[in-house]
Amino acid sequence: MLNKTEELRADFEKALGEVKDQASLEGVRVRFLGRKGGFLTEILRGLKDLNPEERRLMGAAANQLKKEFEARMAEAEQGLQEKPKTTIDLTLPGPEIKIGRLHPLTQIIRESVGFFEKIGFQAWEGPEIETEWYNFDALNTPADHPARDMQDTFYLAPGVLLRSHTSPVQVRVMEKEKPPLRIITAGRCYRRDAQDASHSPVFHQLEGLMVEKGTNFTHLKGVLTMFLEHIFPFSFKTRFTPSFFPFTEPSAEVSISCPVCQAKGCSSCGRSGFLEILGCGMVHPNVLRNVGYKQKDLTGFAFGVGIERIAMVKYGIPDIRLFYENDVRFLRQF
Ligand code: DAH
Repeated sequence: MLNKTEELRADFEKALGEVKDQASLEGVRVRFLGRKGGFLTEILRGLKDLNPEERRLMGAAANQLKKEFEARMAEAEQGLQEKPKTTIDLTLPGPEIKIGRLHPLTQIIRESVGFFEKIGFQAWEGPEIETEWYNFDALNTPADHPARDMQDTFYLAPGVLLRSHTSPVQVRVMEKEKPPLRIITAGRCYRRDAQDASHSPVFHQLEGLMVEKGTNFTHLKGVLTMFLEHIFPFSFKTRFTPSFFPFTEPSAEVSISCPVCQAKGCSSCGRSGFLEILGCGMVHPNVLRNVGYKQKDLTGFAFGVGIERIAMVKYGIPDIRLFYENDVRFLRQF
């Protein structure tokens, strides 16, 4: 009988030695300690057929064995938990975490709008699908005006078009709000232009408007000079030259000295020494009249800037198409 317990102990140790995981350990538990059909249970059950002396010896041996098996099972279980499933080299550098970023045009828009908000301008948005009235007529550009040619755009229906500039937002806001007014807006614009290094049928503009009694050209100059100095990180000269826009009078174009050649003239600035950045002027009285402003001595200034233009000058980008190709090798530089 006692030989039998020795045999059982040897079997148990052998089975335990072959355990590889939780499931096989459980198998050993069922086989040796299981309530139904486990070896030890069978022995304990068989005790009733033995004589008292044998029953005492055998009972004690079986109980001893049970305790021993349970202790060995617990050890084995702990061993399994301690054994690492895979080996990880914690000293290796981890994989590079790629963090996304804002598109350079979005960055310029946010930086510009943020600047104007700080000096009291309120940010507005307007629709990209516009009517001829807001895009042209209200801006003092009637149907037969030659200025419409330069801003030919995509017509969705008679009188309905994709806005060719952000200036219609001026009209929409003035219709809703009374002066004094300082607003800034930015967004997508469309023109029927063939794509090349400096043209795109879809592009972005930043537009500002200030209407308030007493506003004059020096305010326009001051605000725009401050803005340009804020947005361009290099030093430059600013140049205002007379221009024409139907919705401003007088009108001006603003250029900055070429940062590549310091205004000496190079291929970047077409040998002129200056880069044209934006259009601006004093709001034409007809525009104020069109939105229903009746105050006689009301004046204001407005401006429109190409976002791509700013980004190209700021970062020295030679081709506008790079902004729209979604090539991460380009985008990740900003
Ligand atoms: N809308 C003009 C354009 O797209 C730019 C512009 C010029 C806007 C003068 C203005 C302005 O508000 O006053 O060419």
